[in-house]
Amino acid sequence: MCGIVGYIGHRGCQDILVEGLKKLEYRGYDSAGIAVFTESGLEIKKSKGRLAILEDKLKGEPLTGSVGIGHTRWATHGKPSDVNSHPHTDNSAKFSVVHNGIIENYLDLKAELTAKGHVFLSETDTEVISHLVADEYKGNIVEAVQQAVKRMRGAFALGVLTEYEPEKLVAVRFASPLVIGVGEGENFIGSDIPAILEHTRNVYILDDGEMAILTREGVELLSIDGKHISKEIFHVDWDLVTAEKAGFDHFMLKEIHEQPKAYRDTMLGRIADDGLSVNLKELSMLDDYIRSISKVHIVACGTAYHAGLVGKSVIESLARIPVETDVASEYRYRSPIITPDTLVIVVSQSGETADTLAALREARRNGAKVLAITNVVGSSVAREADDVLVTWAGPEIAVASTKAYSSQLIAFYLLGLNLARVLGTQEQQTVKELIAALHQLPEQVESILTQSAVLKQVAESMANHRSLFFIGRGVDYAVAQEGSLKLKEISYIHSEAYAAGELKHGTLALIEDGVPVIALVTQEGLYEKTLSNIKEVKARGAHVLAVTNAGFEHEVAQSVDEVFSIPKTLPLLTPALSVVPLQLLSYYASLALGHDVDKPRNLAKSVTVE
Ligand code: F6R
Repeated sequence: MCGIVGYIGHRGCQDILVEGLKKLEYRGYDSAGIAVFTESGLEIKKSKGRLAILEDKLKGEPLTGSVGIGHTRWATHGKPSDVNSHPHTDNSAKFSVVHNGIIENYLDLKAELTAKGHVFLSETDTEVISHLVADEYKGNIVEAVQQAVKRMRGAFALGVLTEYEPEKLVAVRFASPLVIGVGEGENFIGSDIPAILEHTRNVYILDDGEMAILTREGVELLSIDGKHISKEIFHVDWDLVTAEKAGFDHFMLKEIHEQPKAYRDTMLGRIADDGLSVNLKELSMLDDYIRSISKVHIVACGTAYHAGLVGKSVIESLARIPVETDVASEYRYRSPIITPDTLVIVVSQSGETADTLAALREARRNGAKVLAITNVVGSSVAREADDVLVTWAGPEIAVASTKAYSSQLIAFYLLGLNLARVLGTQEQQTVKELIAALHQLPEQVESILTQSAVLKQVAESMANHRSLFFIGRGVDYAVAQEGSLKLKEISYIHSEAYAAGELKHGTLALIEDGVPVIALVTQEGLYEKTLSNIKEVKARGAHVLAVTNAGFEHEVAQSVDEVFSIPKTLPLLTPALSVVPLQLLSYYASLALGHDVDKPRNLAKSVTVE
């Protein structure tokens, strides 16, 4: 996820672009840059690091002009560095491009363009776009962009300028957001409404496959095939703060709703088109190495650790390799048996968690290979690991992790299938079914999100209690732990997660009249067993909400007070669905109690101390 802006008008554009980028910094902040038509032509200033560094650079050497584009980056292809920062250009330096998204076939395009004599400076997919547009240019920038776009696969929103036609700014949207702001004698582009809201409230929201040609005087909308499109102007009547949250009351709620996209983006380009295999080509691990792995250690903290608990089940069942999952702060000090044939997987949204980083170093010191699952490309964890599997959840602002956790689950499914392919541990039919079910997850999450109102009601009654329990078996127990943590951290209600079968060994003593119990009942093979445990707590007066699979809800309803059903998927994949109602429950409980949902007390987004 990156942010793009653009301006064409009668005012100096440097400050307009920089201010717009400030509103988009939540979309990425590892580098920033702008390109402006100045008296001497198309000039680019960019730098690694926060936008403030670019601002300092521009103070000394301002770019004067009234047409420009800008970018704030969340590294995807290529580490954060000056050269990988946007805007990018071609060898003639006559074209400039800002891009949000991923071009899946950029390596093929790069090879083809290199053979034609193009020379590339960066590791990015975006630089390929600027060369491709330059290559396609035959005197008409709109046609050149259309031709280029037809050759690109993936997700992208683009802003394109060429010195040959300085009176035009071309924008395209394909599966990455883009809005066009319509002003008086000036027009704007932005990844998001907040980037342009200071200047206009009249916007076109582009749909996939649409492009806009902006001049000072107006905006023309076209399809990629060049057909004219007419569209209603959308008048924004939100204030800026609401706009930054895309109309949601909190970042947490926004991020919960971004999960379908995060799933799609994390799967993008990693599953074969025929739906028969997963091939994580970005990993440097050779098949011979994979065959030599004798055990896996998964190490992480907090929510990421909970993803690791699901990861253990996924890897063990798909790849049949034994897995241990550890909290990072414990791992180092328990003298773990790490051998060169141990694959250590560290999981970290931020990639900066001190305990996780220390565990990574310990593993490498002991000769193990380390694979990082992280959401931040240029993070310390990503840089120090041998291999990186990125979750494409985009920046997470709310302290309580939601979309990063669920994207980590997707990463584990992909990794498990990748290992299974090399090790030959799964039948083709099983893999096919798993992949088909993975593809359904985003829509299934969308359908869960439409049922938020029910969860709000349950959460409001839960909020009156001082303590509650989450129970489940197998991967349901792993999700129960995440549900419990989420509730604790933002609602401050005490809760505990228990393996459903373990309650009777002590904790059952805490169950009395009215104590809320949230039971996860999604594992077909364990239905009967979990139902027995539910009966144990019901008999002691508990008020039980069950989260179960569609089709089983009527049976469960006979034993509980309330049922929430999630769409049917394969047992191993249920965590990617069942966690969503639990996230919503904590959100609404926190809201009912009047807490600061996005910034809970005593917590920080990134914990860089041990
Ligand atoms: C809880 C939460 C934390 C983090 C933990 C690890 O919602 O976000 O438990 O999961 O601090 O952080 P990362 O994943 O950045 O290493």
